[in-house]
Amino acid sequence: MQNGFIQIYQRNADAICGELTAGLLASSAWISPKYLYDGLGSRLFAAICELPEYYPTRTEALIVEHYRSDIARSTGRGMTLIDLGAGNCEKAARLFPEIQPAHYVPIDISIDFLRESVESLRHRFPQVRMTGLGMDFSHSLDLPEAVPSQKRLFFYPGSSIGNFTPEEAVAFLGRMRDACRADGGLLIGVDLVKREDLLQDAYDDAIGLTAAFNLNLLQHLNHLLKADFRPRDWRHVSRFNARESRIELHLEARREVRVAWEGGSRHFAQGERIHTENSYKYTPERFLQMLERAGFGRVSRWIDPHGWFMLCHARAG
Ligand code: AVJ
Repeated sequence: MQNGFIQIYQRNADAICGELTAGLLASSAWISPKYLYDGLGSRLFAAICELPEYYPTRTEALIVEHYRSDIARSTGRGMTLIDLGAGNCEKAARLFPEIQPAHYVPIDISIDFLRESVESLRHRFPQVRMTGLGMDFSHSLDLPEAVPSQKRLFFYPGSSIGNFTPEEAVAFLGRMRDACRADGGLLIGVDLVKREDLLQDAYDDAIGLTAAFNLNLLQHLNHLLKADFRPRDWRHVSRFNARESRIELHLEARREVRVAWEGGSRHFAQGERIHTENSYKYTPERFLQMLERAGFGRVSRWIDPHGWFMLCHARAG
C-alpha cells in the first residue's frame, strides 16, 4: 500500500478511568496534561498559539522561516519524517518544500483529527508517501514495519518536551535515539529560560484563553469519568517554579467542594489545588547536555534574536 493509516492504540476506557482516579485521589491531586486536549481543548490550544503573549509558536515559526535552508542542509533530504503529536500537520507541512521528505509519518493520539488532516495533506503533496499512525507515543516508540528504519528524522516541535520532567525527557529522547540508525536524527523545539514576567503572561493571558483551556479539563473529566465538577467552583492558577525551572498550571478550589465520579469521590478544601501541567524551560547548555546523555551526536541549533526559543537538529550517529 502506497499510503495508509494504521491505528495501534485503542483507547481503553478502564485504563483511562484508573489513571484519572489515581491522580484525583493522590494527596496532591494531579491530572496528566494530555487530558487538556479534547475537541474543545485542542481548539483552545490552537487559539492560545495566536495570542500576543504566547510567544513559543510564533517564535519557533520565525526560526523555521529564517533558517529554512540551513535546517534542510543539516537534516538532509529524502528522510522519513516522523511527526510526534502531528495534530493538524501544519508545522511539518511548512518544512516539506525545503526538507522534501520521501515518507511522512504523522503520529497522534487524536485519531479522528489526524485522519482528516492527513487526507487533506495528501492532496497538497501527492509526491510524498504518507502513513498516519494513531498511537500514544509517550509510552513506547515501537513503530510498525511500514515505517522504514533508514533515514528517520523525528520531529518534535513546540517545546512539547517541556511537559516531561528532565529525567523523563532524557529517557524519551533516548527512545527516539534508539529508534534511529546512524543516518537518523531529531528536529526538536525547546522553550528557553527567560524573564519571569514574560513567562507569567504567556501562561496567564489577558483575555483568559489559558484559563479556559485549563478549566476545560474539568468538563473533559466530567465526560470521561461521569464526574460532577463545576468549573465555576475553580480558578486557573499559573506560577513559575524557579527551583524546578518550570511553569506550573493548577486548578484551585474557590470554595469548599465535594466532587463525585464513577469510581470515587473527594472533598477539596477552599484553596486546594489540582496540578494539571508542567512546562519546563531550559538553558541551551542544559538541553544540549540532555541530548548528549540521550545518546545523540553532533547538534546544530538555531535561536531567535531574543533568545526565547531554540530549534535543534541532533544527529543519531
Ligand atoms: C503544548 C506543552 C508546549 O507548555 O507551552 C500552553 C501547552 N499550556 N499554554 C506549553 C500550554 C498552556 C504547551 N505545550
